[in-house]
Amino acid sequence: MTENDPTESNAALVFPSDFLWGSATASYQIEGAVREDGRTPSIWDTFARTPGKVLGGDTGDVACDHYHRWQDDLDLMAELGLGAYRFSVSWSRVQPTGRGPAVQRGLDFYRALADGLLERGITPSLTLYHWDLPQELEDAGGWPVRDTAERYAEYARIVGEALGDRVRLWATLNEPFCSSFLGYGSGVHAPGRTEPESVLKAAHHLNLGHGLAVQALRSVLPRDAQVGISLNPGVIRARTDSPEDKDAERRIDALHTRIFSDPLLHGGYPEDLKRDTARVTDWSFVRDGDEAAIHQPLDYLGLNYYTPTVVSAPVEGRPAARNHAHGVSEHSPWVGSEQVEFHLAPGDRTDMGWVIDPTGLTDLLLRFSREAPGLPLYVTENGAAFDDKQDDSGAVHDPNRIAYLRGHLSAIHDALGQGADVRGYFLWSLMDNFEWAYGYSKRFGIVHTDFETLKRTPKSSARWYAEVTASGRLA
Ligand code: NOJ
Repeated sequence: MTENDPTESNAALVFPSDFLWGSATASYQIEGAVREDGRTPSIWDTFARTPGKVLGGDTGDVACDHYHRWQDDLDLMAELGLGAYRFSVSWSRVQPTGRGPAVQRGLDFYRALADGLLERGITPSLTLYHWDLPQELEDAGGWPVRDTAERYAEYARIVGEALGDRVRLWATLNEPFCSSFLGYGSGVHAPGRTEPESVLKAAHHLNLGHGLAVQALRSVLPRDAQVGISLNPGVIRARTDSPEDKDAERRIDALHTRIFSDPLLHGGYPEDLKRDTARVTDWSFVRDGDEAAIHQPLDYLGLNYYTPTVVSAPVEGRPAARNHAHGVSEHSPWVGSEQVEFHLAPGDRTDMGWVIDPTGLTDLLLRFSREAPGLPLYVTENGAAFDDKQDDSGAVHDPNRIAYLRGHLSAIHDALGQGADVRGYFLWSLMDNFEWAYGYSKRFGIVHTDFETLKRTPKSSARWYAEVTASGRLA
């Protein structure tokens, strides 16, 4: 083999020259400053203050204090050579009660943030909703009620008008699966309700909110704005090829993935989903015209991927296990399919207990390339938590995260090679932050956050990622 032999197995993987290399965060997970400049509580403020809901009683009150340190954080991103940054807007900072006029200081914060990114040559990618519903809207019924979808579209318009001149990449929702199934089903996320029918109503009103928000955004954004959504479809694998296990796969695929992707991409809810959940609801909350409203043309689809899920039909003599990938609860989020059994796939795991399997990412990208031909894809989240420690010199070496990232980037490269139109990658996360029900106990960052001093220290994965983004290749 010569040095330039293309068949050489360890040849560098080259990505398209315009591939967007970014990292991602979300408002409640990093901002802190929860009582400043007119912000009012969101459902996560309330949930985190409820004893027993978040590990160690942690809250987002201070988080990474990004609200005050954002300029330094932007400098750090520039130093790491990031091409793009995905952040979310806190609804209760911009429209504290979830209705009525906007708070200028809230909008100014995100305007300054977007300007700061642009000045540093970093593309802003804005997510309108990353799980932090204003508490007043939850008090009025939350996502299970239709009005929330309408209020959300109003909020989308406000943010679109304020930032449309400087942000090109827009996402309506982040992982509506978690907002509905974990927020209203298993109750491991805010608002912590465990009501089977509310799960499906919430999913529908999130979908509807998305559709109405896309319409609102289109009416105020410049023509070249790119509007999409970030989903976390399940990569569901049947434990065996038996018809029973395949049926379990179908059921969970319907609840985890197609309940969102079918109305978004194909204009209607799957019939098998309605059948499976008939015991819980008659779906009469879906009104005439709703499915058409949800089915808006998209400019891209964002996909978040961490780990696959292995399922089977109920195993005799074993109590049905929950899928623990998203937190432990005695309540099942799987309305109508509670009897499906979840299994731990073999293999190395991250600190979340999630098995490391990059092939799931290739499968996911290829699935949506086939399902939505011509629709550009972005990996809007991917990353790993590990129990990173600072050494005596303060440095953080995280070779396991580098290996995880390398595996998943090469899985994306595989998908590109098989024709998937993947335009970019947003690594979760820029820095260690508030990991929802796990509080500060799980570290996903490529930058270490000392939660006492709030000092940021790039880990070795940050330096490694900087080389990848600078060269556009995986050596
Ligand atoms: C999904 C979520 O969007 C993000 O907020 C979370 O921290 C990561 N996955 C890791 O669990």
